Amino acid sequence: MDRLEKIVLVFASGLLGVFFLALLAAARLQKIEVPPCLPPEVKPFKEGRVDTLPDGRRQLFYVAQMWRFDPEVVEVPVGKPIDIFLSAKDVTHGFYLSWSNANLMAIPGAVNAYTVTLDKPGVYPIICHEYCGSAHQNMVAYLIAQ
Ligand code: CUA
Repeated sequence: MDRLEKIVLVFASGLLGVFFLALLAAARLQKIEVPPCLPPEVKPFKEGRVDTLPDGRRQLFYVAQMWRFDPEVVEVPVGKPIDIFLSAKDVTHGFYLSWSNANLMAIPGAVNAYTVTLDKPGVYPIICHEYCGSAHQNMVAYLIAQ
């Protein structure tokens, strides 16, 4: 192997390492987390619902289907953690809660989970970000934080 070729390979490998460390640092600074595995007490579900725990914490169980989310509109308290559980009835859908880090995939037969806290009052659209059919663009729900 040519000497210059070796230098380029070492330099490129070093850059890869730097970029990887920069990615890890950015994820840590932005508090980006990989959604956790499902707690064993959460069973698969087919209907959307909203639970309020004794301490006031909300648990939202979303079901995505062509072309809506169930539940569609939910009021949540500002500044308190909200547990989101997500599944799908038919095909794979996306779930992005605007202006937050809540970004999940809704997969039939599986449940994904994420906990989010909304610090400002307002209307937060939830949109499907995975193409799921002819009315994909109409798939939206709302969290109303107050
Ligand atoms: Cu559901 Cu796109």
